[in-house]
Parts: sequence; structure tokens; C-alpha cells
Amino acid sequence: MKINSMAEYEAAYAKSLATPELFWAEIADHFTWRKKWSKVLAWDFEKPDIHWFLDAKLNITENCLDRHLPARAEQVALIWQPNEPSDEVRKFTYQDIYNEVGRTANALRAAGIGKGDRVCLYMPMLPELMISILACARVGAVHSVVFAGFSATALADRIKDAGAKLVITSNESYRGAKTIAIKNIVDEALAQDCTSVERVWVYQRTTAQTPMQAGRDFDFSAVIAAQSPQAEAEIMDSEDLLFLLYTSGSTGKPKGVVHTCGGYMVYAEYSFRNVFQYNEGDIFFCTADIGWITGHTYMVYAPLLAGATQVMFEGVPTYPDAGRFWEICDAHKVTHFYTAPTALRSLMAAGDSFVNRANLSTLKVLGTVGEPINAEAWHWYDEKVGKKRCPIVDTWWQTETGGILISNLAGVTPSKPCFATLPLAGVQACLLDADGHELLGNDVEGLLCIKFPFPSMIRSIYGAHERCRQTYFSSFKGYYFTGDGARRDRDGHYRIIGRVDDVINVSGHRFGTAEIENAINEHHNVVESAVVGFPHDIKGEGIYAYVICHLAVAGEAAFAAEICQTVSQFIGGIARPDKIQIVSALPKTRSGKIMRRILRKIAHNELDTLGDTSTLFNPEIVEELISGRK
Ligand code: WT7
Repeated sequence: MKINSMAEYEAAYAKSLATPELFWAEIADHFTWRKKWSKVLAWDFEKPDIHWFLDAKLNITENCLDRHLPARAEQVALIWQPNEPSDEVRKFTYQDIYNEVGRTANALRAAGIGKGDRVCLYMPMLPELMISILACARVGAVHSVVFAGFSATALADRIKDAGAKLVITSNESYRGAKTIAIKNIVDEALAQDCTSVERVWVYQRTTAQTPMQAGRDFDFSAVIAAQSPQAEAEIMDSEDLLFLLYTSGSTGKPKGVVHTCGGYMVYAEYSFRNVFQYNEGDIFFCTADIGWITGHTYMVYAPLLAGATQVMFEGVPTYPDAGRFWEICDAHKVTHFYTAPTALRSLMAAGDSFVNRANLSTLKVLGTVGEPINAEAWHWYDEKVGKKRCPIVDTWWQTETGGILISNLAGVTPSKPCFATLPLAGVQACLLDADGHELLGNDVEGLLCIKFPFPSMIRSIYGAHERCRQTYFSSFKGYYFTGDGARRDRDGHYRIIGRVDDVINVSGHRFGTAEIENAINEHHNVVESAVVGFPHDIKGEGIYAYVICHLAVAGEAAFAAEICQTVSQFIGGIARPDKIQIVSALPKTRSGKIMRRILRKIAHNELDTLGDTSTLFNPEIVEELISGRK
């Protein structure tokens, strides 16, 4: 279904409210189902227990690939742009992807991987990552992609939690001017008690020799070489697991968000077609890494489901210089460009000469995702990149939602700077006050919740269903709580304000403050720490850490570097604090709880609105915190 006008949007929205099952049944109808559903939806948000397209059978890869072969075998599905501008671009037709997925799927089966087994993918942005993901789906294995910027310890945690039997990686990866020996990181992770792992497949991205452990490590190309390109698709139930993707919450370890086959497939394609208004012949370019949900849904699955052609980029936006994205857009005649506000801010800071050097006349639609976009970056995007003739879609969603929930539809529904605007048809967004009362009418601000299921929503947290209930479904009875605050303006348009929990969004990447504190606390000289976010010009939010030490620190800069090193070791370089303040104590309540509000105010430099500090157990500490502010 493609919505082509505001009136059609309104009609579709009304229909989705009045007859949700009929609405989604019609959208789901055009896919290849091995068996149709007996019922569209069964749900209970309290448990939670959510089923879409009950008893239906399918394989998502038949919908991504086989279904298109009669018409699109020779159509390019993927244009891969390597890190080095002078290196050769690789292009894959739908037939090519089908063949490679078939070979890889057969190799998985030969290695004893089948339905329900977990496979961990720790790989840079290579076509083989997309192919491996699809090969897992082909045989019914559950893929768990771990962003290749995470550390060995973070990778080990995720491998163990998922109980992965196989890890697929590459020997090295290129990121701008850097070459990273990522297989070494896998080796280090596997040394941390990852007893479930039987094999490692290593794709040779570079000519560097990598130590291979006999009997465990295998060369990816060699493993798939002898296999047939035809692989039978495993027939999956609509609610069988498709993938896990780990994400951070406000407490505890990262959680494996569970997505299932049928509903995810339907929503991925529906949201892609409608938000981006992708048409035949268009070229889609999403700059996300496949290690995050954006890459899963809007690079691997949705474009293939829609029979689209897309660009995948191996490198970084600033290598060899800040004109790289625009060069790629021109070189491949990109029509749809989707990126994060943080990337726009860093390119904007590099000056306009880079964007002005490019032509960009093929662009039709621009998108942003991952964090609130500030007005300056929005207007720069609109003027310098879109030349004021491309609608910008500001797409709000989450790892847990699987697909875009609130966004304008490009050129179809109105756009408004810094507003995600309206929920997609089929999405019942609402705002609650702190007591759980729904805020009716417009011009209101509250907690963003969803009050009715949509097909791609989280089903569980892997191995921790109760945690799923607790985190998302227990704050307000009968609602899915997003963790975000939002405002609905006079026109009923949503503006996302940001997280209201202890989650910080650094360059569009999500971290729990507790997760970073736990890492900092691993340093031998740290007694206790507290982490908060603060406004950062490029990253959106930066990480501010207050740290109590055992022993006096001689050189603060050297100590800060050690803390960053510790965080890099336990999480990854992306979670390194931007500011570290050594303190003698943290502000605590009489019951021993850290008063984060005060720490946030100081980090934000909002000293006039600190509020009442007299009820603290140790009010005298506030002065020290203020005077030592970084
Ligand atoms: C959190 C989810 C969705 C893919 C990337 C992030 C924030 C996401 C927007 C947006 C304002 C946004 C929210 C959300 N967020 N998109 N368009 N405007 N904020 O996925 O890592 O699961 O993070 O990102 O705070 O809760 P994620």
C-alpha cells in the first residue's frame, strides 16, 4: 500500500483505528506466504504477549529475493562503495544476492546451523554482512549483529547472552584512515568464556595474515565456495524469531531485543514505501551501520522487500574529506539519502565548501534518524543538501519498534523543522502525564506511549521476558512506554524531546548511564562514579562522568585517559566520557540515592535552577561540584 496524499493518509489512519486487523491484512496480502494466517492479531500488553499473522508460514528471504527474480534478476540491488575512493565499486544484482545467500545458507547448514540456532555477526560494512544476515534468515537461524565498534568484552557479553554457535567476522576492517584488526577482537572475546561458539568464519577484507585456530576458524570464501547457490528456504512461523539486536536500557546489561518474522517483514516494507515514497528506479542511500536497527530495517530488509536499489558505504563521512557523502550521492545518482543529525552537524562544522562542490541534483528525499535534530542542522540540510526542493523526513523510532513509527511521509504529509510530525497509519501514539493519564487534545507535553500493537514491535527480551514487561509495559498499564518525552503542538504534530530515563544518546547511539558507570568502576582507583549527559554541539549529547578515587590522582589528564581506556575496554571507544570530574563525594539523599538531577544541572551549567539542595545528606558537596565543573 502506498499513501499518495494527505487525504489518503487520513483515510488510512481512520481505517487503521476502526478495523486494524483488516487494515494490516490488506497490507500483508501481497507478500509470499507459504501459508496464510488464521487470525491477524492476538495481544495482551500486560504479559506482554503479542502475535501477528497467527499460524502464517513464510521465509522473509523468499520475499526479499525469490519473489523478485522473475522481474528483477538483472536489476542492481546493492552498490557497495568501498572506504578508499579509488577502490573498485562492487555491484550485486538481485540474482547475485540470491546466489550468494544460497551458497552461504548451504554452508551454514553444512556447519550444522539450522532453525533457532543463534549466529553472531561482528563485521564491518561489507556486502558479505548483508549476505550473511540473509543466509541466517534463509535457514531459520537467529542473527545477532554486534556493531563492530564494540569491544571484546562487550562482544563476549552478547555472544554469551545469545548462546551463539557461530561467529562471522572479517580479518580487518577499514574505517577512514584506520585499519582495525577485528578478528583479534573476536579472539579476545572468545577467550572470555564463550563456550557456546563452535566456529568462526573469517572474511578476508584485506591481504593481512590473521592467526587462524585450527578446527575453529575457517575462511569465509573457502567455506561457501563449493556450495550450490540454491538453498531451500526454511519455513518459519510468523512468530518465530528472526533476529536479536542488543540495545542499552537505563539499568543492567544490554538486552537482546527480539523481533519475529511476519510482523517485522510487513512493517519494514510498509514503512519504507510510505515514509520515503520510494519509486521504481530510485536509488536509496542509508548511511547507518548495519550494527544498529536502522541498518537492519532500512538497509538489509526493507529495500530488498521493496525491490529497491541501494548504496552501501564502507567508510566514514569525513574520509578522505567532509565531501565524501555528497560525492557518493553524485557518483551513484542517489535519490533518497538517510542519515543521522550528528553526521550533519559534523559536516556542517567542516564548512560549506564540501557540499557546494557537489551537484546533488539527483536527490529527491532526505531523511534523518536517531536523535532530535536541531533547527540549525535541519535548515542546513534543507538548504545546502536538498537545495530547498527535497522534503526532509524526520523519522522517530527505536530498536524496539523495528520500524519508523512517527514521521512525515515525504512530499505527502507536511514537514515541519525539528518535528517528527504524525504517526504512520496503524500507529496509535499518545502522551501520558506522570500519573498515567492520557493527555487529550493538542498543545500538550508528556511521556510518549503506544496504546495498540503494530506488527514490528518488540516481542520479548531474549532470555528475560520479565525484564521486557518491566521495562516497557509496566510503567503504565495497557501502554508500551517508549522512554521518550514528546510535545504535541497545536496542529497535532509530535516533536520528540528526548529520553526521560537514564539513557543517553551520543551521536545517535544509545547508552545506559549505569552501563558506563559499571565500566568506569572497573578502574582500580575508582570507588564510585555517576554519569550524566550534557548538550554537545556535534554529538547531541556528550558523556559527563563524576568519579570518586581511592588514592589522590597525580595527573588529572593521565587519569582521564586511563578512564577512557577502561571504558573502551569494557564497552567500546564510542562510549568514552567527554568530561571527567574527580570529586570527593556524590550528592546523595538520606536513603543513599544519587541525586542525578543535581549532577545533570551542573553538567548542563544550569546553576541558577539547581533547586533545593538542603534535603541532601551531604549538601556541602554541591559547592565542590560546581567549582570543579569541567
Ligand atoms: C531512541 C532510540 C531508530 C533508529 C536509531 C536509534 C531517539 C530516534 C529520533 C528522532 C528524536 C529520536 C529516541 C529513541 N530517536 N529517532 N527522529 N528524533 N529522537 O535507535 O538506539 O533504539 O534509540 O533514539 O530517544 O527512544 P535506538
